[in-house]
Amino acid sequence: MTGITGAAKLAGVIGWPVAHSRSPVLHGYWLTQLGIDGAYVPMAVKPENLRRALQALPLLGFAGCNLTIPHKEEALRAVDDYEPSAKRAGGVNTIVIRPNGRIVGSSTDGFGFLAALGAEVSGFDASVGPAVVLGAGGAARAIVAALLDHGAREIRLVNRTPERATKLAKELGGEVRGIAWEKRGEALAEASLLVNATSLGMEGQPALELPLDNLPSDAVVNDIVYVPLETPLLAAARARGNRCVDGLGMLLHQARPGFEAWFGVAPQVTEGLRQALLRTLARP
Ligand code: ATR
Repeated sequence: MTGITGAAKLAGVIGWPVAHSRSPVLHGYWLTQLGIDGAYVPMAVKPENLRRALQALPLLGFAGCNLTIPHKEEALRAVDDYEPSAKRAGGVNTIVIRPNGRIVGSSTDGFGFLAALGAEVSGFDASVGPAVVLGAGGAARAIVAALLDHGAREIRLVNRTPERATKLAKELGGEVRGIAWEKRGEALAEASLLVNATSLGMEGQPALELPLDNLPSDAVVNDIVYVPLETPLLAAARARGNRCVDGLGMLLHQARPGFEAWFGVAPQVTEGLRQALLRTLARP
């Protein structure tokens, strides 16, 4: 971000707290690599100030921003308009300020999930077989919606709190079946995709206990946890020959549409970018 001019394009990430966000490193990497006259800054905004902060963006000349915890859901009510993706995901993670000043929200989490999957498993087709998704929080919702919208014919949604899974299934429509947490091992039979969208297996969180015996050997396993990058789930799946997708891919790919909308260039997810992010994850 060194050497920006008075004509620099502006974007950033709004969160509370925001210091944990990796987005400034991610977008900063692209800005530098692509030699763009632009800046992407962290903005710490308390929940009660979200609406006013968003309304200030067009006044300050911002091209848009990302939203992170805890603002994504509230932003659905605070924007002027939202894209269908935001409604499906139940939250906004990307805001674009239109030339007329309107504040438009979308969710790129589902796009990021599918793009990461497609990058690792060429020709991945969501319609080939049942998908098992563990979790029913915000991340799971975006993933289930993306799978349904891309042809998934059966989704087995496994969650510790069954009511959350049932509620999600009802809201999203389609073939989504809630399955009891205790039955998660059995749910893997004939699955073509397994996604961990819970926080289990993340550093500092309990382990994900999941016997993989019933999982077909040609199933793809995707863990959205990225600290550690090689989770025990991915290590176990890899050891038995399943193709694996780690959680960093979704984080990197979800950033692409926002960057392109604000700065006018479509960025690439490269090994250099992954390494730059991995260095920030290793940081204490
Ligand atoms: P996010 O928005 O990032 O998805 P979240 O809404 O807190 O985060 O969701 C976390 C997910 O991890 C939920 O599905 C949660 O299960 P519950 O709906 O039952 O809370 C799941 N999760 C967290 N800790 C868990 C645990 N110890 N055992 C099983 N599931 C767990």
